[in-house]
Amino acid sequence: MKFLGLGLALPALNSCDSLIEHFSYNENLEVTPGLEFKSPLGPFKSLAASSLDELILPEGYSYDIIRSYGDVILRVHEDHENDENAEIGDCEQSQELKFGYNNDYIGFIPLSSDEALLAVNHEFLDPLDIPVEAEQRKAVGVSIVKIKKDSHGLWKFDEDPESQREFNRRITANTVCTVSGAVRELYPEVTGTLANCSGAVTPWNTVLTCEENYYLFDEVYKWKNFDAKQYGWIVEINPLKPDSKPIKHTALGRMAHENCALVKSHDERMVVYMGDDKERQFIYKFVSKNPLNMPKNFKDHELEPNLSPFSEGDLYVAKLDKNLKFTEINSGKGKWLKLSVDNPVLKSKFKSQAELLIETRLAAKYLAATPMDRPESLSVSPKDGSIVAALTYSPAEKNNFGSLFRIVEDNPHSESMTFHYENLILGGKASGFACPDNIYFDKNSNLWLATDIDGIKLNKAPYDFQGNNSLFIIPSEGPHAGKALRFASAPAGAEFCGICFSEDYKTLFLSVQHPGEGGLQSRWPYGTNVAKSSLIAIYQELEWW
Ligand code: FEO
Ligand code: CA
Ligand code: CA
Ligand code: CA
Repeated sequence: MKFLGLGLALPALNSCDSLIEHFSYNENLEVTPGLEFKSPLGPFKSLAASSLDELILPEGYSYDIIRSYGDVILRVHEDHENDENAEIGDCEQSQELKFGYNNDYIGFIPLSSDEALLAVNHEFLDPLDIPVEAEQRKAVGVSIVKIKKDSHGLWKFDEDPESQREFNRRITANTVCTVSGAVRELYPEVTGTLANCSGAVTPWNTVLTCEENYYLFDEVYKWKNFDAKQYGWIVEINPLKPDSKPIKHTALGRMAHENCALVKSHDERMVVYMGDDKERQFIYKFVSKNPLNMPKNFKDHELEPNLSPFSEGDLYVAKLDKNLKFTEINSGKGKWLKLSVDNPVLKSKFKSQAELLIETRLAAKYLAATPMDRPESLSVSPKDGSIVAALTYSPAEKNNFGSLFRIVEDNPHSESMTFHYENLILGGKASGFACPDNIYFDKNSNLWLATDIDGIKLNKAPYDFQGNNSLFIIPSEGPHAGKALRFASAPAGAEFCGICFSEDYKTLFLSVQHPGEGGLQSRWPYGTNVAKSSLIAIYQELEWW
């Protein structure tokens, strides 16, 4: 039996019967450590739970730190270039030239076989660490970081100042962004991007960054004159041109955007699946109006707001045939409801499409879309095109552990207005994981899954079975199909996020976010009292040792 690989070409499933076999996995899960599996990264034996303040990997794997919060990424002055004794960072103190706070999403943009850019999101911050708004504004957003392979073939931060000046960049809450879509008539430009959670790399090698919990900046950090309507969008960045303006694509709606899972449809249109990570919010789908006609290399092109397929298209929200308890295995049918002022229900509520998009959640609610238990990441299986969403957990719905929720379109992605769904695998003691957050299908359709149990709840009932937050892999086939095999265990209080493979799958880039969260003591990564979120590269030692 297979977990996700149904061996069918798109469109995938039309029969509910064929879904039933998958439900048995939840009953037969074994989470004993030591199970052997060969992932695209290499073979490994699954780890046991741990509560240690250590980053634990399977035997034969190591990691390097690429950058930690506060490390300089851009040396702007040339006077130290020929000074061998000058440490990078000696001359640069501005937050704007440093790797930002709480790194999350990682996008890999290849430049050559041994050079690449990483686009890294910075999700939020701790005001105790950075109390002043002016500095907070510079510590969030996105870092663009050039990396290159060393003589062993391991990816490292590129220390060459010239390379840094050519590529490295901080996009912050002060960076002026342009706007595409209907909201452009109200906001032709906005100031900054923030709350950058997860994202995606497009087929034309730009980066999408998702603005999630923008409310924090207003309600918790108390930023002055905060205009919330400027945030909660998906923003496209051209990483190859450091002077280019990011574009907020308002056609994709405004919400707590966790991530965006992209599919290039059979008719060359872009389809985007998105989750709104908030209690009783929804799953969305966007279909671009126009087929793709994008240059492959934006080094020589400006990314104009209206050029991108995300500038125009239809936005839909998911409605299921019944109100589910997401704490139970279940399946059924659903449909996509179009969020347009052409709909008579919505026409009576919104004056324009721009106003509708600004209040996307409200529009979805007016159409009686189905609330979910906090949809975090979604990912599309390369094997069968099915879409899996991590529903993380929901105190309001007494859902402690979350689940994996799967959508199978009835027709090709861009045309399908109906789908089948399964609440597929439940978090909990049987499956061995709780609070799924970041998920990513690798090229073999194995699902990598990182959990995000709040630091304050870690290693306490009912979450104690899981130990620290971890990275699991759920194989798509073979004897362990459907089981969550632990690949990595995070330091105290941290979550893993930003699951990102190099093109050759020899390196897994990962964000280790908020070690020490929830009042836990963490000394990771440098053994000091100051724990730091960091971007790491994981690799199999045998390749070069
Ligand atoms: Fe940024 Fe919902 O995690
Ligand atoms: Ca997340
Ligand atoms: Ca978190
Ligand atoms: Ca989370």
